[in-house]
Amino acid sequence: MPAASTTRTVAVILAAGLGTRMRSKRPKVLHELCGRPMLGYIIEAARAATGAAPLVVYSPATEAVRDAFPEGVDFCLQEEPRGTGDALRAALGGLATDATDLLVLSGDTPLVRPATVEALSRQRRSDGAAMTLTVFRPDDARAYGRVVRDGREVVRIVEKKDANPGELAIEDLNAGLYAFEAGWLRSRIRSLTPSAATGELYLTELVALARADGRRVTAYELEDDAELMGIDDRVQLATAEADLRWQIVEGHLLAGVTMTDPATVYLDATVDLAEDVTLEANVILRGATRIGSGTVVGSGSQVFDSVIGERCRIWASVLESAEVEDEVQIGPFAHLRPGASIGAGAKLGNFAEVKKSRIGARTQQHHFSYVGDATVGDDVNIGAGTVTANYDGRAKHQTVIGDGAFIGSDTMLVAPVEVAAGAATAAGAVVTRDVPPGKVAIGMPARMRDRKARAAEADDEH
Ligand code: UD1
Repeated sequence: MPAASTTRTVAVILAAGLGTRMRSKRPKVLHELCGRPMLGYIIEAARAATGAAPLVVYSPATEAVRDAFPEGVDFCLQEEPRGTGDALRAALGGLATDATDLLVLSGDTPLVRPATVEALSRQRRSDGAAMTLTVFRPDDARAYGRVVRDGREVVRIVEKKDANPGELAIEDLNAGLYAFEAGWLRSRIRSLTPSAATGELYLTELVALARADGRRVTAYELEDDAELMGIDDRVQLATAEADLRWQIVEGHLLAGVTMTDPATVYLDATVDLAEDVTLEANVILRGATRIGSGTVVGSGSQVFDSVIGERCRIWASVLESAEVEDEVQIGPFAHLRPGASIGAGAKLGNFAEVKKSRIGARTQQHHFSYVGDATVGDDVNIGAGTVTANYDGRAKHQTVIGDGAFIGSDTMLVAPVEVAAGAATAAGAVVTRDVPPGKVAIGMPARMRDRKARAAEADDEH
């Protein structure tokens, strides 16, 4: 059998470090970039590169990472963060024994691409090296390990705190991204010795161990330093977010989305936009938001976890976990709250608020109003100032409005209550009982009148 077919690559992601420079109660790797924890990006890159679930090393201080990724990831506990070498030792204990190739990534380097991880792994195999490490030359050398090289061969890595002035000036830096021959690593991981300066086990000592065994250690060089920059504090987090944000915006522009001022558009990595969507300036789209072709999202809109159909017009509005069908107009200043479902062709105007309610097709709710815990049929007119009084101080109650009903301005619908299809309420009605078919509810509390008779009277009055 060819050697390649027996290759089994597993990625280990180190995420047990405390990340104290974030000055946060939250583990560093759970801080978000464009709506997703930074660890999520590297998990995805590892999975894409290896086709398998990565093994994430966490510590009691970063326990929350387990809850953040309930699926598609294996975990391994490092009892105490005693250095990168100790973290790798812990990982090997939890690793499948048939793994032939091991990739080691850092949870705080979220912009690494799967293609980079694959290229690193390929190079190690073609070099026949025990260990290959990624070397880059960023302008800011920070505390990266300095890589002492002899051409392609890596001689040793000197940590900044241990480096002499000559070594400090070395421009080749260790990005913290490694490929190992798993068998060799297993045989040598127990040989690491605590650093005299810190008492930590340094993963980088493996360079010396491999060379002592007569094995090659090689450098994989990468030009793009933004991809490899680790995140240690919130300044670096903001810089990485700006890079990633632009990549996301650019991807959508190239895929057929118009943006009048892309620099002011904020899109989470998870947002899905069809061709010919238009985003005006100052638009924020978050989470699992999906928008259909031909829809225009106007300036000042914020949309969270919502699905919007085709050819809609959203004006300066806020949508949260809402569903909007095709050709709907929303806003300005409307607020769709979780569970709002808006039928095709409906129109919601200024200060319309909808929560946990279905608004039927072509229904109009133009002016300041609240519809909560309600089912509103098709072709309903909801007058200005209408309120579903859904809460009696103890429990929430439902309002049902049938197809073609007419709700007069300033109607209070005191739930539970039903307005039948084709029925009506007069302006200012306080509706405490169901409105039967053909009736109009008038007054406070509302009395029922025959809808046709009432309409005839109104004609006479005019
Ligand atoms: C390490 C390298 C350094 C390299 C740098 C790249 C060592 C000794 N030095 O620096 O040469 O330039 O990475 O970022 O390896 N972690 C654990 N457990 C621990 C300690 C760290 O899981 O006990 C994790 C961290 O969460 C992080 C990664 O390992 O994801 C790197 O740790 P960090 O402390 O940032 O790196 P250094 O050791 O300073």
